[in-house]
Parts: sequence; structure tokens; C-alpha cells
Amino acid sequence: MKIPERDGFASRFGILVAVAGSAVGLGNLWRFPYLVGNNGGAAFILIYLLFVFLLCLPIMFSEFVIGRRTGANVFGAMKKLAPRSGWLSIGVISVVTSFCILSFYSVVGGWTVDYIIRSFSPGFLTADSGALSDTFKHFISSPLRPAVMMLIFLGLSALIVSGGIKNGIERYSKILMPVLFLLIVILAIRSVTLPGASQGVNFLFNPDFSKLKSDSILAALGQAFFSLSLGMGCIITYGSYVKKKESIVKISVISSLADTLFAILAGLAILPAVFAFGISPGEGPGLVFITLPQIFAQMPGGMIISAAFFVILLVAALTSEISLLEVVVAYLTEELKLTRRTAVVLTFAVAGFFGLLCSLSEGTLSEYRLFGKNIFDLFDYTASNILLPAGGLLMVMFTGWKMKKADLLDELTNGGMHTMSRYLFKGVVFSLKFLAPVAITFVLLYGLGLIKLF
Ligand code: TRP
Repeated sequence: MKIPERDGFASRFGILVAVAGSAVGLGNLWRFPYLVGNNGGAAFILIYLLFVFLLCLPIMFSEFVIGRRTGANVFGAMKKLAPRSGWLSIGVISVVTSFCILSFYSVVGGWTVDYIIRSFSPGFLTADSGALSDTFKHFISSPLRPAVMMLIFLGLSALIVSGGIKNGIERYSKILMPVLFLLIVILAIRSVTLPGASQGVNFLFNPDFSKLKSDSILAALGQAFFSLSLGMGCIITYGSYVKKKESIVKISVISSLADTLFAILAGLAILPAVFAFGISPGEGPGLVFITLPQIFAQMPGGMIISAAFFVILLVAALTSEISLLEVVVAYLTEELKLTRRTAVVLTFAVAGFFGLLCSLSEGTLSEYRLFGKNIFDLFDYTASNILLPAGGLLMVMFTGWKMKKADLLDELTNGGMHTMSRYLFKGVVFSLKFLAPVAITFVLLYGLGLIKLF
């Protein structure tokens, strides 16, 4: 019997848009602007950039190396590279973390669907921030509507993933990512040309280190992890679909640059407008859903701008959600031999169930708390502050300490097809062995509250 060829990306552009699509998401468009706002602006961005390129890039290399070398899902990859060893825990952590992130990410994805529809309803856009805050809180705490929206969002992502890599993820990313780029550029231009926007631009590009808070550095590191989709096998899984002739160094560098560009563009689209309308940049997580509609209400053509912004958010969230789903689906099809369709349905059902719990925890189930957090915040906290750093730590230790250097070099240079300077390779190895593990441990301990700064 002829074994069917494993699915994979068909083109280089396809790989780039899919990886960038995974990285660019709610992390860039919602989290990054408010973190920049909370942490004093340009100085925070500089530190973030330093982490992305010094620390996270080598971690992305590791994930690509593990994935491409084995051509398998997270579990399969670890089984091939280190059979019957503790390293298999990378597989366990990845699948568990996927479900954790999927649950609350789907809920926020559902909110974006709702806000697209809401943008067109008369009376929604108002300059009254109290009313907008009430609208948002009332919406997220109601039992039915956000849950339905969450299922629509999750369902859309599941549909894309059921098409596979070439005909699903790659095909849609190729359309969605350029659209996303175009929309965010238009919005950034609109925001920057508002009267009074220069203060916001200044805030983004003129560093004032005295504005940094004691935990800003760690916030920047955590954001870099989340934004680049590192630490839970997303890049291992996508890497396993990358052909041997492609340079994973190039793909990593380009997609990290793209992710950074999107974050900066999101900052440009949001912060100058925030300043132009005299709102505080340190508004926090409500920035997108409460403050932005307030801004749109005061712009000519606000309805269209509002809808366009939430479409952007939806598209960005979708291309990230599918990468989270694919980690689990690849595991189920390859390890448990389920068909892709069954695997997608099963993942949808489990993620939908946990998503429902997260959604209800903003209202009906808000009484159920652990460590003072509702289910939504608990999933978010556990995934971002514990599981991602733990997974990332294991992966980077694996390539740094367990893998043979020759294999690492072979994978990074495609068997010598591309050259890599000796110093660069030494730098990568140093980061994998020492720099990254130490820094990640730091974030992990901080996340758990085991160490405090100052
Ligand atoms: N990076 C995406 C964002 O910024 C979210 C995401 C997708 C993610 N896959 C991930 C985060 C894997 C952590 C790990 O929205």
C-alpha cells in the first residue's frame, strides 16, 4: 500500500504568512498597545525588541529545528528525538497549553465577532465612556450571546483547519494576512493624521527610561513569548510542514520582523488616536473594547472605521487560533490515528466546552474562583505565566543541551546548503544553553511570585 504523502506547505510565501499569521494576533493588536500604554511607551518597546531578537529568535530556531527535523507533531517529534524520556513532557505540556489558550482566546475571538456586528447598530458608538464600559461589561457577563459568538469563532477556525495545511491553513493565510496588513496600515495612517496625534507618536518612539516600572522588563519578556507563539509547540508543528530546502533561519527572522512590524503598526493605529482624544494610555485591557469605540464615535465615518478595526482583530485572531488548533489536531491524527475530520470535531468539542466555562465565568459562573481568579483569568494566567515559560524552557534546553551540535547546525544550514557564520552559530548555541534558559527561569519564577524585584 502506498503511504500517502504528509501534508505540508506548498510555497515559501505560504509558510511565511502562516507563521506570521500565528504570531500576529490579539497579542499584537490588543495586548501590546495597552502594555506599551501601561509601561511608559518607547522604552518598553526597546526592551521588547531586544528580547525578541536576542532571546526569542533562538527559541524559534529550536522549535523549527525540532519540528522540521522530525516532520511530526509535538508528541511524535519528541518520541523520535528522545524516545521514552522525560522530554516527552514537551508533548504533554504543548497539548495541555493549547487547550488552555484556545479556551480564553476563543472567547475574546467571539467578542471581536460581536463588536463587528455591534459597530453597525445605531447608538452603539458614543463618546460616553461610562456607557461603553457598561455595554462591554453587560455583554461579556451575559450567558448566551458571548458563548454563541465564541462557538462561531471557534467553528470558523475549525473549518479552516479541517481543510488541512495546503488547502486550509496556507490557502486562507495567503488571503487573510495581506488584507490584515492593508487594513492596519490604513487605520494607522488615519490615526497618525488626526489633529493632536503627534503626542502619541512621540510616546511610541521617544524613549523615557524613567517611566519604566519595576516589572516592565518582565512584562516585555512575557509579551515577546506570547506574541511570537513560542513555548507550546505551535512552531514545532508548523515547522514539521516546512520542506527541507527552506531556510528556517530566514523564516524565523522574517516572521519575527513581521510580528514586530504589526505590533508597532497596532501601536500607531491606537495610541496616537488615544492621545488625540485626550484619553489616558494606561487604560489597560479595556483599551480595545471600551476606549476605541469612544474614539471611533468622534471620527467621521466612525461606523466603518469601527467595523474595519474589529474585522482586523477577528482576522488576526483567526490565523492565530488555527495554529493553536493544529497542534492538537496534528497530535490526534498522527498519534491516535484519527481522521482529520474526527480530530477537528473532537478538538472543537473539548475547546468549545472549556471556552464555554471561560465565557460563563465572566457572568453566571463568576462565583467560582481559585486564587481569587475566575476561570477565564485562571486559564490565561496558567497558560501565559506558567505553561508557556515551562514549555519554552524545556525546548530550549533540549536543543541546547541534548541535541548534537552537528545536527543543530545541519538543520539551521540545511545540510550546509546555506552558510552560517561560526560566530553566529556560537551565539545561537550560547543563547540556547545559557542565556535563554536563565531568562525564562526568571520569568517563570516571577510569574509564580517566587521572586520579587525591589
Ligand atoms: N501569538 C498569538 C498572538 O499574539 C497567539 C498565539 C498563537 C500563541 N499561538 C500561540 C501564544 C502559541 C502562545 C503560544 O495573539
